[in-house]
Amino acid sequence: MLVPAAGAGQPPSSGFQAETEPGPLLTITLLSVVGARPNFMKLAPLARAVTGRSGVRHVIVHTGQHYDAGMSDAFFQDLAIREPDYHLDVGSASHAQQTAAIMQRIEPVMVSERPDFVLVFGDVNSTVAAALVAAKLGIQIAHVEAGLRSRDWSMPEEINRVVTDRLSDLLFTPSRDGNANLLAEGVPSDRIHFVGNIMIDSLVYALPSARGLRAPDHYGLTGRPYVVATLHRPSNVDDATSLRALFRGLEAVARDLPVIFPLHPRTQGRIAAEGLVSGAGSDLRLIEPVGYLEMLSLVADATLVITDSGGLQEETTFLGVPCITVRENTERPITCLQGTNQLVSPARDALERAAREVFSNARRSPAEIERWDGRTAERIVGVLVGGEAYR
Ligand code: UD1
Repeated sequence: MLVPAAGAGQPPSSGFQAETEPGPLLTITLLSVVGARPNFMKLAPLARAVTGRSGVRHVIVHTGQHYDAGMSDAFFQDLAIREPDYHLDVGSASHAQQTAAIMQRIEPVMVSERPDFVLVFGDVNSTVAAALVAAKLGIQIAHVEAGLRSRDWSMPEEINRVVTDRLSDLLFTPSRDGNANLLAEGVPSDRIHFVGNIMIDSLVYALPSARGLRAPDHYGLTGRPYVVATLHRPSNVDDATSLRALFRGLEAVARDLPVIFPLHPRTQGRIAAEGLVSGAGSDLRLIEPVGYLEMLSLVADATLVITDSGGLQEETTFLGVPCITVRENTERPITCLQGTNQLVSPARDALERAAREVFSNARRSPAEIERWDGRTAERIVGVLVGGEAYR
């Protein structure tokens, strides 16, 4: 990688203004790359934190990895993110095709914008594709949500995380285990900043509006206990045996309490292909994907969340809502150690048993996790623009 023109926190030398003009002499250009649903709630607080800040130019690129209105536009609206400056329209394809298309289409954008930092978020294909291009152009990379590790190499996201972190110049971790993982991999400590969890910034910001939506009312669940479920991991839904086991498990849980199950397009397709329908006596409600505010409103009042999502493990921990994660591992161990999350084998009986246990136990109060306080974006901007450090 080329040596960057300026160090972290030093406003670099692009965009000079005349010496006689008041205001900042230097402008820093940040280029944020997002593409998939979980990226959008990580971008929103950052975009807000730099809006109107003098000396900062923010360029937003949407790769188009997610393109359905319910997977993308709804999040931009709910989170009040402005229109992206560039839309690359890559769409769905195999991992190699999608990653390659993002790389090909984003390279000219980075060449013409010449940002001082490329900001990438989380662990999706858009994240690693943008990081690879930036690294080869010698542009500094800042990774938001760095250091998480499941140590499960069958997950595409684990490959994306490790490669992105290896290429990044600034690594913003959500929890201290992220720092430990990065240090163990030999990342120099001065590149790592423990800034906290940016997803929680979005949650804190949106919770009052989300509660105001009263989403449970729309499902006839006012004041009633219910469960929210989401599934989309290839390991759970692409394999017919796993999908059937989980579907039957949810059907069993839905004999005790209504289960609201917003379907990711991948899951919707697989359920249709397998011809799965829930039987009589089971209140399992398969619905279209829901926007950020509606989901938050549903989750905040749920008795239990059953999921394989990364973000929901964190959101339920913050809200104190019990969460069953149907995976063998998690890159977010703090949600199990300090929060409300538990890992359960993606099997029918195990799921049913774990759900019943949650129903019969008293609810714990939410854990307070260090730097999950709604101020993570502020800290990130402090590092990028103000030369601050968060160890
Ligand atoms: C991606 C991320 C995953 C993240 C998830 C959140 C990678 C490797 N995976 O998985 O980490 O948790 O997003 O949703 O980046 N599809 C649509 N409409 C859309 C988007 C997708 O119909 O707007 C369908 C297509 O059939 C597509 C499939 O969903 O092939 C999978 O989409 P893709 O972006 O490849 O992966 P996700 O499963 O969404």
